[in-house]
Amino acid sequence: MRIEKMKLEHRVKVGLLIIEKFKKSYDAFIMLPRKYTLESDVSDLVNEMIENEKAVVLIDDDIIGFIDISYEGEMFYNKQGVYTAEWGNCIPSNNLKGCLLLLNYIYDYMNDHKLLDHTISVMENEKGVIEKLFNMSYGSRCMDAHALIENKSFSNEMTIREATMDDMGELKTLLKILHKHMQMPPTLIGMSYSKEEPIIKKWLSDDASKLWVMCDANKVIGMMKTVNGASGGCDCSSDDETLGIQDTIILSDVQGQGLGKCFVDFVHDYGQKNGFKYLAVDFETMNPTAQYFWPKYFTPTVRSLIRSIG
Ligand SMILES: CC(C)(COP(=O)(O)OP(=O)(O)OC[C@H]1O[C@@H](n2cnc3c(N)ncnc32)[C@H](O)[C@@H]1OP(=O)(O)O)[C@@H](O)C(=O)NCCC(=O)NCCS
Repeated sequence: MRIEKMKLEHRVKVGLLIIEKFKKSYDAFIMLPRKYTLESDVSDLVNEMIENEKAVVLIDDDIIGFIDISYEGEMFYNKQGVYTAEWGNCIPSNNLKGCLLLLNYIYDYMNDHKLLDHTISVMENEKGVIEKLFNMSYGSRCMDAHALIENKSFSNEMTIREATMDDMGELKTLLKILHKHMQMPPTLIGMSYSKEEPIIKKWLSDDASKLWVMCDANKVIGMMKTVNGASGGCDCSSDDETLGIQDTIILSDVQGQGLGKCFVDFVHDYGQKNGFKYLAVDFETMNPTAQYFWPKYFTPTVRSLIRSIG
């Protein structure tokens, strides 16, 4: 068994491995967009890996796996590292030697380039791979989760409406609370956020996103953002039929009263009326309120794990 650089001659087999891998995920998760089904769906990804010359294949007579460095540089959590996308790995979990050969390639690369973090996204049905990564000192970081859009009876005791610039004061307060929630224990995300007002202005002027506020009488008590065609998470988890949910917060003194669920019912209703098929959300798995809340209504589909060295 050996690894070698991914080359043009490996193109067809690597494409088939990606399609086989995602077929298993699509069988497991009906709520995941079917993005990588045909050879033509994955050919650009495979060509990109070959051109970038940072992917290796695992060969045992035939190609039985591969791993790619899909991105190298500053990560979303402000640290320098390498990232392996969910389409950029096929790790044979029943073959420990093979797994280690692939991962050792990443660690050699990190060592040579003085990069201390490896983040890797794997499909949530790949339990054997997750276990191998856990044994290699990886921990869970982010989760993408999905739901098929359903006809929900959305009872609107609270008013949910699109936010405007007139809501800037309340929106800034909500976003500050959300950022603080992420930075303070028990979440302790370990990263900084930029100033709230420019972020909100950008959201309000972006055609692809909508910012919603929940009001009790005239008081704004919660916020949620929807993004057309995006989950904010992994490549495989969004397409034109996907409505992504981001930046959700309910004021702490009214949490636990069903208001978050009310927002979820609202986006089912909005998504259905606007021709979407899937809802997607991504959340930090170390955020306890997110960990309790989202899996009640969404199925976890893609997990991103990190190994930090040193
Ligand atoms: C996540 C959040 C939006 C949920 O809103 P909420 O109004 O409190 O949620 P709901 O009252 O509608 O709860 C819905 C369900 O989730 C459960 N739930 C929500 N928060 C929970 C918690 N902290 N612990 C245990 N269960 C929780 C509720 O018990 C309820 O389940 P049930 O219907 O079986 O009883 C809210 O907790 C929040 O703003 N958290 C801080 C910010 C945050 O983490 N945002 C998400 C970023 S990804």
